[in-house]
Amino acid sequence: MNFYIMTLFPDMVTGGLSTSITGRAMEKGVISVEAVNIRDYAGNKHNSVDDYPYGGGAGMVMQAPPVWDCYEDLCARLGKRPRVLYMTPQGQVFNQSIARELAEEEDLVFLCGHYEGIDERVLEAVCTDYLSIGDYVLTGGELPAMVMIDCISRLVPGVLNNQVSADIESFHDNLLEYPQYTRPEEFRGIKVPEVLLSGHHKNIEEWRRKESIKRTLKRRPDLLENANLSKKERIFLEELLAISESL
Ligand code: ADE
Repeated sequence: MNFYIMTLFPDMVTGGLSTSITGRAMEKGVISVEAVNIRDYAGNKHNSVDDYPYGGGAGMVMQAPPVWDCYEDLCARLGKRPRVLYMTPQGQVFNQSIARELAEEEDLVFLCGHYEGIDERVLEAVCTDYLSIGDYVLTGGELPAMVMIDCISRLVPGVLNNQVSADIESFHDNLLEYPQYTRPEEFRGIKVPEVLLSGHHKNIEEWRRKESIKRTLKRRPDLLENANLSKKERIFLEELLAISESL
């Protein structure tokens, strides 16, 4: 899978993503990350890419021509018009199911704005998706692009050593992940739950599903509406709800 990031701060994204798991995936060749510097398309001797907003107001706006030229150059290289995701707090809020859908693509372009944003005309011409990482405002789209690339990458086969961990983690079936334990068996007087030491896989599986349901009810009850539960698990959830109502 190939990620292209159109940005004014290429070092920020390549630096961050070439570390740890995404860095290893790049070395292995299962993903590639290329930052394309919008400033290279400034087309003026001062290399400036922003200007005052028409109609007045605070801040500067990134101009359309450098973004357009950068995009056209990239499309020519790729031989296609790829999906272009604009990082904006005005977009749809990114989540695991959007990540799963995007992980099916061969090429993804992330467009990162700065200052007060990018001229609307070029956004309309190039963007296929408007995505946010949450209801707060950052100084630019680079961190959101890195967050999304990290999340999408780990769904690409060959990126994680243990691919099953992407299948049983939080948000699978719209549930949070169960609690995890490792050695020592006792820490500050607290023992690891007995069932996990039993070696009985079916009981462990059942215990983990129940813990996932309990945890989701406690921390993210909003997720349960779309959770994928068996009939038995629905009954378990109803029992939990009945207990919590009686308290
Ligand atoms: N740019 C600035 N804030 C952002 C956010 N919350 N999500 C995506 N892009 C952004």
